[in-house]
Amino acid sequence: MPQPVLARRSFLAGLAALAATAALPPAARAQAGPAVHVLKDPNCGCCSAWMDILESAGFAVTSEASRGTALFRAKAEAGVPQAMASCHTAFVEGYVIEGHVPAADISRLLAERPDAVGLAVPGMPYGSPGMGPESRREAYDVHLIRRDGTTEVFTSYEAA
Ligand code: CU
Ligand code: CU
Repeated sequence: MPQPVLARRSFLAGLAALAATAALPPAARAQAGPAVHVLKDPNCGCCSAWMDILESAGFAVTSEASRGTALFRAKAEAGVPQAMASCHTAFVEGYVIEGHVPAADISRLLAERPDAVGLAVPGMPYGSPGMGPESRREAYDVHLIRRDGTTEVFTSYEAA
């Protein structure tokens, strides 16, 4: 069980690393795509599968270990309502990405830049990115988390 203070410190270190990435000259960032930093339980395979998919989509993905109470606290501090919680919590250009959100929705978020906390796919729907084949997808929604903690549907994915 990580000590809360240490977890918090590594979380802040992660944010500092993000800031450092953002400070790179445009040429260096062009090859990498938007930087996504992921807090995940090291034993969670679906989180790693989701990260691989984001990398294939051109995102520059980094991660750090977080689990149990520390991970739940990080979600709460990031503004993720409990009902929106999933396995991993990620950060990209000031937005929070909770759970198995498709890369296309993250790209749309970064293009539209709504005044919001970020996106969430609560739980771990089967067939969402990193959660098994899309050909056997169950229906699920990507939710936009507003600043007041309420949500609206950002994208609906039908069952395959
Ligand atoms: Cu997962
Ligand atoms: Cu995950």
